Amino acid sequence: MNYKKLFFLLGLAVIFSSVAFAQNNKYIGATKCKMCHNKATTGEQYKKWAASPHAKAMESLKGADATNPKCLKCHSTAAAADPKLVGSLKVSEGVSCESCHGAGSAYKTSSIMKKRELSVAKGLIIPDEKVCKKCHNEESPNYKGFNFKEYYAKIAHNNPAKK
Ligand code: HEC
Ligand code: HEC
Ligand code: HEC
Ligand code: HEC
Repeated sequence: MNYKKLFFLLGLAVIFSSVAFAQNNKYIGATKCKMCHNKATTGEQYKKWAASPHAKAMESLKGADATNPKCLKCHSTAAAADPKLVGSLKVSEGVSCESCHGAGSAYKTSSIMKKRELSVAKGLIIPDEKVCKKCHNEESPNYKGFNFKEYYAKIAHNNPAKK
């Protein structure tokens, strides 16, 4: 076996072991992401999310519904997560960044975030339609159907500096 191949295999082993650990990553909450993801030049993701229905999803749950696990499983990232993994994420944040992007404790550092593959190995999710359908489905008492293109356009927070 030549060195190149050996390093490739070692690299794979590192990636797979981080994926295996990803399930122990903690949820850090949207205000932590805000530190780096709220500049107008790079897409002000925090501001767009805060103005979206996802950030306000807990406001829709009135009275006893606000503590009903059957509603919380889709209306609150923090309430739906394993309590051991809830770091600084709050129930009131509703559907927070990490419902779509994965728990952030291991990928949140700038040096990791700058490299997409490394971030993904540390638990970052680049969400697709399947992620949305975990909640946008018929189990929702207010289900209005789901068209990915249309719905995504309403919550898009792309970075205009990238193309
Ligand atoms: C210390 C700064 C920092 C923090 C905190 C941070 N990020 Fe990032 N993030 C970056 C940088 C830098 C990039 C690379 C440039 C870019 O794509 O915006 C990035 C990229 C990303 C990308 C794009 C990945 C790609 O290649 O398409 C996503 C998604 C993302 N971050 C989500 C999050 C989420 C969610 C949180 C909070 C849980 C978070 N980030 C916290 C700095 C940070
Ligand atoms: C963790 C559950 C969850 C996930 C994952 C999720 N959503 Fe949602 N979404 C909700 C909830 C709950 C609401 C309703 C918020 C409210 O008004 O109380 C909602 C509302 C919306 C709305 C507003 C709909 C309207 O009637 O105005 C859009 C648009 C939307 N989501 C798009 C998406 C897209 C696109 C994805 C995937 C990239 C996604 N959502 C992933 C739970 C989720
Ligand atoms: C399977 C995920 C899921 C569950 C479980 C769920 N919701 Fe929702 N809820 C959603 C989504 C997604 C939306 C956005 C509506 C849409 O566009 O389909 C929503 C929207 C709402 C709205 C906004 C009204 C509207 O017409 O948009 C209210 C109120 C609401 N849900 C209450 C509840 C209550 C109360 C429960 C528990 C009995 C509950 N939800 C359980 C996913 C869920
Ligand atoms: C409802 C799901 C959902 C929520 C909530 C959400 N995102 Fe995203 N995010 C997406 C999707 C879908 C994309 C596009 C993925 C792709 O490029 O294919 C995306 C892309 C991004 C990107 C990359 C933008 C680019 O063009 O490079 C960043 C950075 C990001 N999100 C940060 C955040 C932050 C920070 C929060 C919370 C403040 C957040 N997101 C909340 C679904 C979500």
